Amino acid sequence: MYSKDGVDIHLPLEGTPQEENKYGVEAVLVLCYIFIMILIKTPEEIEIIREGGKRLATVLYKVKEIIKPGISTKELDDYAFKLIKEMGDYPAFLNYSPDGASKPYPASLCVSVNDEVVHGIPSSKKILKEGDIVSIDLGLRHKGLYTDMAMTVGVGEISNSSKKLIETTERALQVGIDACQNGNRIGDIGHAIESFVRPHRYGIVEVLAGHGVGKAVHEDPYIPNFGKTGTGAKLEKGMVIALEPMVNNGTKNVVLDKDEWTFKTADGKKSAHFEHTILITDSEPEILTKL
Ligand code: MF3
Ligand code: CO
Repeated sequence: MYSKDGVDIHLPLEGTPQEENKYGVEAVLVLCYIFIMILIKTPEEIEIIREGGKRLATVLYKVKEIIKPGISTKELDDYAFKLIKEMGDYPAFLNYSPDGASKPYPASLCVSVNDEVVHGIPSSKKILKEGDIVSIDLGLRHKGLYTDMAMTVGVGEISNSSKKLIETTERALQVGIDACQNGNRIGDIGHAIESFVRPHRYGIVEVLAGHGVGKAVHEDPYIPNFGKTGTGAKLEKGMVIALEPMVNNGTKNVVLDKDEWTFKTADGKKSAHFEHTILITDSEPEILTKL
């Protein structure tokens, strides 16, 4: 999801420029803390989200199966749309217009190739070739409730450095999931991911983050892939969150393409992205987007 950096928070920041500097960061942090509204899902809602997650995983793995050199990213999108419709569900990203977006997202699937980080728009002109890496990201609405999932896969034979980038990003997601214990805080998740990725000298994207999910595609809390232990909101049984580390084989910086959706690495190096929808329980976290 989008960074909250762009959100206009001015109210308590009156006074001289000096005072603004002194209190600005704290004021924004306090406001973020006061205004977040994390929903606790009921057992009935969780049952629906669990079924939706299973359906979403089924579709995304089927899309993965048809990825090969010569296929267009539009064909992947068409296939995802068809499978979701056959199940009687709805593609959550189609026409979705989150805060900060200038126009609705025009497809069901996000397909981001090589240096594209996330939100790549499918196109019949974009043909996958041997050695590419491709991130597929899909949201599904089942009985009114949402799940979100993504993975990066290689097209044909890929380089060892691409393999390592993909493996590290998938493991980073698992490390984040392991930190999703009842009573832990949001900062513990980001800290776990960051500590795992940092020794590899990859860039962790900071301006995009994980998020709550369920009643909407994007809900509170905002879940950065970096952070400090013991900070942020507390995780509680019944929360449903999407974790989604985005890891670059170079700089952490990203740029927004002129299509106004696709984020790309600023240095043109490859990027990988994995995402699961997770339920916080009173024991181990449950991955809801699994078969
Ligand atoms: N998993 C992506 C995210 O949370 C899904 C984006 S949906 C889109 O940012 F429609 F905004 F692309
Ligand atoms: Co997401």
